[in-house]
Amino acid sequence: MRRKIVAGNWKMNGSLKSNEALLDALKKASIPNNVDVIIFPPYPYLIQAQMNLQSSAIKAGAQNLSISEGGAFTGEIAGNMIKDIGCNYVLVGHSERRTLYGETSAIVAQKTAAAITQQLTPVLCIGETLAEREAEQTQNVLTEQLQAVIEHCGIEIFSKLIIAYEPVWAIGTGKTASPEQAQAVHAFIRCFIAKSDAKIAALVQVLYGGSVKASSAKALFEMPDIDGGLVGGAALDATEFTAIISAAS
Ligand code: PGA
Repeated sequence: MRRKIVAGNWKMNGSLKSNEALLDALKKASIPNNVDVIIFPPYPYLIQAQMNLQSSAIKAGAQNLSISEGGAFTGEIAGNMIKDIGCNYVLVGHSERRTLYGETSAIVAQKTAAAITQQLTPVLCIGETLAEREAEQTQNVLTEQLQAVIEHCGIEIFSKLIIAYEPVWAIGTGKTASPEQAQAVHAFIRCFIAKSDAKIAALVQVLYGGSVKASSAKALFEMPDIDGGLVGGAALDATEFTAIISAAS
């Protein structure tokens, strides 16, 4: 049985004050036994979240990491620093990193490997743009994104990571993929991994992301290959995020 995960990607939002209020509200939420909750605040607030959540079941992780282990890389953050403050999770290859900051699938594969080296669990984000979906390229795009990780890291790495399928056309647009649309892609992802290793494919958790709201979460999470969600906008609202957590029970 795969556990459900509800992850909150705060992106570049928050302040010491607003985070404190959000974290305090989240800590009051009752978390179902079958659900893991992870939040991804911006770097400067990661230690704030980590300290605030010490007595809570909610975990904190970073939104990105460097492929390098340390040294003269101004503006970069190494995986061992994320680990050093007690975090165990990191997002890699979010579509905003891929499209706005030129992260190719090869770079994402290197970041995935860097995370594993530091014993961090990467949440590997993949997904197609609207143009790619309309050109019926969804499966080819996902294949390229997954294949890069398999080639660089080997298939075994999929037993140590979490996948987030996030159609780019659904991120921040209010347009959620329908449960059936998302399920079809999740099943494709699992089948693709099964071609290399059926056991790993059966166990890997695949989250859906893209305008998940409390109102849409339950139907998505009930799909057989959807193991929870990576939530952006709605993760900044304690009431909404708590309702999404409940929907995963
Ligand atoms: P959204 O973002 O829920 O605001 O669409 C999801 C994400 O980018 O992870």
